[in-house]
Amino acid sequence: MKLALASDHAGYDLKLAVIRYLESTGINFVDFGCQVGETVDYVDYGAEAIRKVVSGEFDRAILFCGTGLGMAIVANKFPGIIATPCWDEFTAAASRSHNNSNCLCLGGRVLSQEMALAIVKIWLGTEFEGGRHERRLNKIKKLEEENFKQPLPGSNGQIQWLPEKGPPEKPQIK
Ligand code: RB5
Repeated sequence: MKLALASDHAGYDLKLAVIRYLESTGINFVDFGCQVGETVDYVDYGAEAIRKVVSGEFDRAILFCGTGLGMAIVANKFPGIIATPCWDEFTAAASRSHNNSNCLCLGGRVLSQEMALAIVKIWLGTEFEGGRHERRLNKIKKLEEENFKQPLPGSNGQIQWLPEKGPPEKPQIK
């Protein structure tokens, strides 16, 4: 399991707590920013990390902002991404077993570190149940294809993502 992490300033401290946990377990991850003291737009950092999941370089992402909502909105714009804000153990378990979430979104202004770590552990350790949930996810995938994430010409119906050339420029926002 290889995880792509990213936060804005409002999710930064919670990201550090999760990083400490991941380091203690030996789970592979890369932090795509932001760094301490920066005030940034969550869109830029969420998009950079989630592109690594879409490209297949990383298996899943954990994104942090103030509420977890902005990061989820960003991540869900990308094909094949199921980004789920979670706020307790139940939503963490259901996001995996029912929704097959591949992007966990956590809010640094709404979650205690203890709750966030409990969510991360459950989200990492819970399998997708398939069955009736697979049928529902297939319908969501169809909506994705119909509405705004079209298969590229020559892709045999498979949705593909063309990564931008090189990483996006880091904004200088104070
Ligand atoms: C930043 O102030 C805040 O808006 C952001 O972290 C996030 O909560 C947005 O959804």
